[in-house]
Amino acid sequence: MSAGEAESGRESHLKMSSFTSGGELRARCAEAGIDLPVDDSFQPGGPMSTPLATGSGSAPNRWAILPMEGWDGTAEGRPTEFTRRRWRRFGQSGAGLIWGGEAVAVRHDGRANPNQLVIIEETLGELASLREELIHEHQMVRGAASKPVVGLQLTHSGRWSRPHAGGRLEPWIAYRHPLLDRRVASGLPARVMTDSDLDRLVDDFVVAGERASRAGFDFVDIKHCHGYLGHELLSAVDRPGCYGGTLENRCRFLRSVAAGLRSVAPGLGLGVRLSLYDSLPFGPGPGGVGRAEAWDGAAYPYAFGGDGVYFCLDEPAAWLTMARDAGVQLICTTAGSPYHNPHLQRPAAQPPSDGYLAPEDPLRGVARQIQATATLKRRVPGLVWVGSAYSYLQEWIGPVAQAVVTGGMADMVGLGRLALSYPQLPLDLEAGLVPDRKRVCRTLSDCTTAPRNGLISGCYPLDPFYKSLPQAVELRIIKENSRPRR
Ligand SMILES: Cc1cc2nc3c(=O)[nH]c(=O)nc-3n(C[C@H](O)[C@H](O)[C@H](O)COP(=O)(O)O)c2cc1C
Repeated sequence: MSAGEAESGRESHLKMSSFTSGGELRARCAEAGIDLPVDDSFQPGGPMSTPLATGSGSAPNRWAILPMEGWDGTAEGRPTEFTRRRWRRFGQSGAGLIWGGEAVAVRHDGRANPNQLVIIEETLGELASLREELIHEHQMVRGAASKPVVGLQLTHSGRWSRPHAGGRLEPWIAYRHPLLDRRVASGLPARVMTDSDLDRLVDDFVVAGERASRAGFDFVDIKHCHGYLGHELLSAVDRPGCYGGTLENRCRFLRSVAAGLRSVAPGLGLGVRLSLYDSLPFGPGPGGVGRAEAWDGAAYPYAFGGDGVYFCLDEPAAWLTMARDAGVQLICTTAGSPYHNPHLQRPAAQPPSDGYLAPEDPLRGVARQIQATATLKRRVPGLVWVGSAYSYLQEWIGPVAQAVVTGGMADMVGLGRLALSYPQLPLDLEAGLVPDRKRVCRTLSDCTTAPRNGLISGCYPLDPFYKSLPQAVELRIIKENSRPRR
């Protein structure tokens, strides 16, 4: 640890590109007490190439593409050519499962940004064509007989809703949160959803799921992650009424949507993307290093999967058991929220413009998600598990993914940020090629900095298409101006 790091409490770490063998990476992990499985090399035609029955169709291999929004839909919630290109590239990965494509709002007031897709009758044909184009691209690289399992992620953004042009926050919240309420202060006053509001939202999710089924999607993800409404309900411990308080009540929203969908779209698979654990909200501390906000009360009650500081998977295990019993078949694991603890959610070498320096070695964040997924997979059998947060591993994604799947720690490995810069990584690994260093995502967070400043998202540093856009110049200026002056 350097003097600066010691002062700020920041954990030192090595660049991923500095590891030249699986042994070196394992040694570093052992030294730092990071529990990360790493194989020596990736085996083409090995465990990652094995098909998997998902309950929503057979996935031809163990790679998945995680949902990645581009902030690039139209004001009416239709895809644009940017959206179509992204989905086509997801197909070009040859991945066996597409987890949701991107967050799609079930109704206008639940959009996380004015350019988020919305699933209504008027947009359905275009959403269906996103899936068709993706499958076409998959078949171009895998052959006509191969077909990925494709889901659609359904969301209401709750506290983080910004549905109208200009992007002002218009929060719909599950409960008043003493710390996060301050962070939404720049928007309209937050409205607490009543039980009747939530009953209506259940109906909206069911209508949206039925539409997704008609559009040909194999499953829908009833999103419960990243601080959006479904996730916030999980920590609504002091909310009165039938959607708050007991864990059973906090599972009611999911169970009601699942029951509705089983009745109106019996052939549709059900998935949940779940933030497995959470913490006190973080912000920049001394030296710009992330630190948790102070909490004066007794135990912090608002972290599902923890007490604010330490993580505990007992409630998530019980909740997942209820979800499975309600008919959910697929789980995509993630953690925390991009708004209040991004280092837990998407470990990165560099933070976005509104973020903070990671207080820990990002490898620790990757390993935490992998281990939590493995623990819950053991505790709640009978589900298909897709893991997240592998992009920080860079050249080591293949050997770690393979070790995870071989060890039964997850069924499939999801790719998020790397799928923007280098969707063909799975194919290159399977062809026995060394990953193309020029396309491996270095987790510089430009894909988040851009939308946080009102620009479309994409891989500005590595994808020539985004590099050449006028927005790349705007982004450079934004980054220059947000750099601390000496
Ligand atoms: C630009 C961007 C857009 C994202 N969009 C979504 C989304 O629409 N839905 C979602 O559940 N997660 C979304 N995520 C989170 C990713 O799916 C993923 O969990 C995260 O990036 C960690 O995986 P990775 O290490 O492979 O990037 C997004 C992340 C980024 C950086």
